[in-house]
Amino acid sequence: MTFGPNSWTPVPGAFIQKVGKDVHAYKNEIGPKAVVVMVGLPARGKSYIVKKLKRYLSWLGFKTMVFNVGNRRRTCAVETEIKTGCKQNHTSDFFSPNNSDAKTLRDQLAMDTLNEVIAWLNDGGKVGILDATNSTKERRQRIIDRCARESDINILFVESICTDPKVLERNMQLKLSGPDYRDQDSEAALADFQARVTNYEKAYETIDDEEDEDIQYCKIINVGKKVIAHNIQTFLAGQCVFYLMNMNLAERQIWLTRHGESLDNQGGKIGGDSPLSPEGHEYAEALAAFMAEKQRSFRCSESNVQPQLTIWTSMLRRAVETAENFDPEEFDIKHMKFLNEIYAGVCEGMTYKEIQEKFPDEFKARSASKFYYRYPGMGGESYCDVIQRLSPVIVELERTRNSVLIITHRAIMRSLLAYFMDIPLRQMTNLEIPLNTLYCIEAKPYGNVLCKYEYSLDAKTFLQVENTI
Ligand code: F6P
Repeated sequence: MTFGPNSWTPVPGAFIQKVGKDVHAYKNEIGPKAVVVMVGLPARGKSYIVKKLKRYLSWLGFKTMVFNVGNRRRTCAVETEIKTGCKQNHTSDFFSPNNSDAKTLRDQLAMDTLNEVIAWLNDGGKVGILDATNSTKERRQRIIDRCARESDINILFVESICTDPKVLERNMQLKLSGPDYRDQDSEAALADFQARVTNYEKAYETIDDEEDEDIQYCKIINVGKKVIAHNIQTFLAGQCVFYLMNMNLAERQIWLTRHGESLDNQGGKIGGDSPLSPEGHEYAEALAAFMAEKQRSFRCSESNVQPQLTIWTSMLRRAVETAENFDPEEFDIKHMKFLNEIYAGVCEGMTYKEIQEKFPDEFKARSASKFYYRYPGMGGESYCDVIQRLSPVIVELERTRNSVLIITHRAIMRSLLAYFMDIPLRQMTNLEIPLNTLYCIEAKPYGNVLCKYEYSLDAKTFLQVENTI
């Protein structure tokens, strides 16, 4: 494929866009860059949302980075202390709207961080996320004015509103182990943090339509329970809102495994649709018994309720057979084509050695650029194609409140693990994902935690092993 002078690839391998001379005409297409500006009082889960969004957009191939104003404030305090020898005090008073010196400094830090976001976007970044409270109209207007000076940067405001006392309580507790309070007496720290929030509340203005008719914004109320979207016009903003509206905080587990060994695995052949080998059937049986046990023992800490376990498999025979021992009366079992293995086109059913002999150039090209390499022949796919087809699966996994066991294939496991564990796309194509291995992912406030189990055909048991992926 050739790229003319007026083409560029907003997401290499996934989108190509032709542009004319007037870049402004394309402002709403995939191409332009975005600043996602967070809005909300402290302890409203902004940083949690930011981390998830960054992980999702990066996984889709958009170069995304988070810029946190609190980090800049802390760095600035240390630098000022070194320079002046004066202790910089960021207790609750610092956040009072009546403390004009501190307010000037806080606004300056936010604008400096925004300038950093813009410089990064102009240097090839795609989505910059400004993680701060941005809780007054005045501050937001300054952000809008600054971005308007750039030719192709769109803004999406994401306001997080939280009224659920349980979530607020948990967020407050989490703050106490964060960088501002971690070494302090917990009672004094909590009192100071509550006073900080009260100070923010005095000046807080929620986004409203009178602010600027044209701005794109969404309000996430109680972590996605309710979502309000306003004037969403750009592709990237649409992707963000769709993702955020499916998010939830339900405690559940996501389990991932390849199918049991197939006859083609025994022959070293890729792709195809062969049935399980006798060892594969044994794994399928052991898996069902192990999961039933795990399902009984997993209970949500808050409600002490066991979430329903749903089984999702690809539509290939080896994956369907691996789910055969789960009782459909007890488990909801779905087979979906989205989860089929990467399709190897003309190389389906061959061994790697055969590919190297028959198509040496193809073999070399794949080794050189495994993420972008697309297998030749009808329906042949690349890892980049696989990511695009898996994005509805990710959104559905974010939406569902059930625990899910996914029985799928090596390339799909790599792609899903890349999303959950924030593994760079180019690195994930070579992850070691052996057969007879089961991964469990649980969402924690500061990121996902992975456990790994191996099934031993000799010992006939699953053993928890070190989490190396
Ligand atoms: O060999 C098993 C398999 O699932 C093949 O069907 C698939 O083509 C391959 O693994 C994916 O791994 P890689 O991308 O490393 O070739």
